[in-house]
Amino acid sequence: MSLDLAAIDPDRIPRHVGLILDGNGRWANARGLERTAGHAAGEAALFDTVEGAIEIGIEWITAFTFSTENWSRSAEEVEFLMWFNEDLLLRRRDDLDAQGVRMRFVGDMDDQRIPDRNRRHMADAANQTAGNDRLNLVFAFNYGSRKELADAARDVATRVARGELSIEEIDEASVAASMYIPDMPDVDLVIRSSGEHRLSNFLLWQAAYAEFYFPGILWPDFDRHALVDAVVEYQRRDRRFGAALDQPQVD
Ligand code: IPE
Ligand code: MG
Repeated sequence: MSLDLAAIDPDRIPRHVGLILDGNGRWANARGLERTAGHAAGEAALFDTVEGAIEIGIEWITAFTFSTENWSRSAEEVEFLMWFNEDLLLRRRDDLDAQGVRMRFVGDMDDQRIPDRNRRHMADAANQTAGNDRLNLVFAFNYGSRKELADAARDVATRVARGELSIEEIDEASVAASMYIPDMPDVDLVIRSSGEHRLSNFLLWQAAYAEFYFPGILWPDFDRHALVDAVVEYQRRDRRFGAALDQPQVD
């Protein structure tokens, strides 16, 4: 199914889109189903959106699939999400690889609560697809921005303690170099479905100048057409990066 891209300006495609997948549970509840059925429906929405991103020419997608706060959900739901995230990698890996997608993972992967098998499958998927460059698809798994920033602070401090970096050399670039994925570009557009208007500890550093888009639909109802709508809305925004209204635009 190909997309009608006529409404999109090919010269101003957002390079990096962050997706906060929200509303799976409500989608299932509205149908009298278990919350887990909502996550299963959300998978189809995510991969339709990824195919749309490839068609549009978006280079990076980061999808929030499990947050450091999600551990506080019921044991059954946590167990399901652990298994589901792993199973999804195995089922989607070859297809994504064939489409030129590079699968990457951002989050605290050293957390002992993550099953070893899951960790191994993430590493395998990243290795298998490492040579692809059509789209970077980043799974934010066991991800929390404050944890990422705290880990980056520890990394910077370690480099100072080893004499590799002086205190005076600590700047935005050296902090950015200590993020989980140092080559991850800034997020241009954050999409959060379900009508909630929160960032929820997602890419705080990388989304410093992002535009926000809040479609009032539940994540399983999102798809490539909804992504086109989001990009059209993004292109209507006037991104000034702190410059005054009457100054020439920076981007
Ligand atoms: C998002 O949907 C699922 C995850 C990425 C963990 P939710 O599970 O948050 O669904 P609601 O918000 O309860 O409807
Ligand atoms: Mg939610």
